[in-house]
Amino acid sequence: MRKYLNWLPPRIASKLFGFLSATPQMRKKIDRRYDGILAALQDRLKPYRDSHTKHSSIPETGRGRQEILDEMRQIVAAETSAWKKGFVSGAVYSGDDEHISFLNEVYAIQSQSNPLHPDVWPSSTKYEAEIVAMTAEMLGARTASESTGADKEICGVVTSGGTESILLAVKAYRDRARAVRGVKKPEIIVPSTAHAAFDKAAQYLNVKIIHVPVGDDFAADVEATAKAVTASTIAIAGSAPSFPHGAIDPIARLSELAARRKVGFHTDACLGGFVLPWAKKLGYDVPPFDFELPGVTSISADTHKYGYAPKGTSVLLYKDSDLRHYQYFKAADWPGGLYYSPTLAGSRPGALSAACWAAMVAIGKTGYMQATQKIMQTASAIKNEIKKMSDLFLLGEPLWVIAFGSKTLDIYRVMDCMTTKGWSLNALHKPPCLHLCVTLRHTQPGVAERFVRDLNEAIEHVKANPQAEGGMAPIYGMAATLPVRTVVEDLLDRYIDMLYRV
Ligand SMILES: Cc1ncc(COP(=O)(O)O)c(C=O)c1O
Repeated sequence: MRKYLNWLPPRIASKLFGFLSATPQMRKKIDRRYDGILAALQDRLKPYRDSHTKHSSIPETGRGRQEILDEMRQIVAAETSAWKKGFVSGAVYSGDDEHISFLNEVYAIQSQSNPLHPDVWPSSTKYEAEIVAMTAEMLGARTASESTGADKEICGVVTSGGTESILLAVKAYRDRARAVRGVKKPEIIVPSTAHAAFDKAAQYLNVKIIHVPVGDDFAADVEATAKAVTASTIAIAGSAPSFPHGAIDPIARLSELAARRKVGFHTDACLGGFVLPWAKKLGYDVPPFDFELPGVTSISADTHKYGYAPKGTSVLLYKDSDLRHYQYFKAADWPGGLYYSPTLAGSRPGALSAACWAAMVAIGKTGYMQATQKIMQTASAIKNEIKKMSDLFLLGEPLWVIAFGSKTLDIYRVMDCMTTKGWSLNALHKPPCLHLCVTLRHTQPGVAERFVRDLNEAIEHVKANPQAEGGMAPIYGMAATLPVRTVVEDLLDRYIDMLYRV
């Protein structure tokens, strides 16, 4: 059945598949197929199942600390080599040994801290307030208050990552629109390339999400966005740049539209917030995307990406604190006391905020500038080489998130071949393509050359072996595809179940 469904447009195929799979007989058949797909993935994702101690219950008596450390060191050594040598797209943004040791030291100093107890750890509040202030200044805070004469300051919060920043921004817009404009059925408008975190936010917060198809340059279509605005619109969002293709949406025009229609505008600079300001200073063609634009009312910028902080922090900035208030949670009647929580979690790892602060002040503006220069130069070299490959084409004109596809080859087979050479690239779809998100790991001597050489070889291999079939549905965050085009969400449910199985 899959074979025939694969010829239909995905949305129709998915609907038809859902309908047909309701019969017990068909369900059994599908489950058997899923078992096969998941078993193949399991071998790749569960390599320690037979080679290491397994705990499905707490050990009766505790194991020796040294033994535990030895085992964990052995495991991590096997996992480190690929990203350390620059084989992995994105994922680890600095990876420098001295930087990591420094962050680990900071973490150790602060490992018990929790911003939920600001009297016990006032250091956590200091670090978070300063992370927000430094990020705001980097993203145009001063320019905004000067140009608008506003006495309200740009403010923000530290969150656990890009997804939480986006989720909280959507919550703030939803609750403000409800309180101020009486919007009962809130809607948010995003380009189709916006990160899936917006869909997650919409689903969690019961907000309707409207995806506007992007143009040929993979950037948001302003005219189409304007047509999607209704009385229920709470905000419009754009990416700087987008995760899939590294395209920077026309934030100036989108935010102008938002201001004209009196709705919020969120710039998702999770990926670019700590790159674009420096790239602009270096003379790269960076369009305005931050608070320099009067219509931009919030920005997410991930410290745990190009801020070079350890995983677990992001900054969400608001143009003024009125909007930020709609993000807070407060409970004045709780027997536990006057409870408040600015972000999603209650207790939070203060050590991560401390390490983020330490990363920012240790790197400094000069350090960020130098890092950005290396990334831009490496990305330019790679882009120029890809442009010479007649079987490949670049998607849009990206700065450093380089997406490429092929009109002549199965691009997922090219990826599979790169995987056998040790690479871990991101597979994307709609349209099928791959991307390499260039980080400091790729700026090491020889890495860009190795990428280009391996890519050329992969292309030649696929051309020489045209008969094999590649996968069809790329899995986010993995250099892997599923051998089916019509993926209904229950397969993803089972995939996640598999990950949690001991
Ligand atoms: C543009 C963009 N927005 C949001 C996110 C989500 O960030 P996180 O994975 O930290 O939640 C990402 C992650 O890659 C991203 O690239």
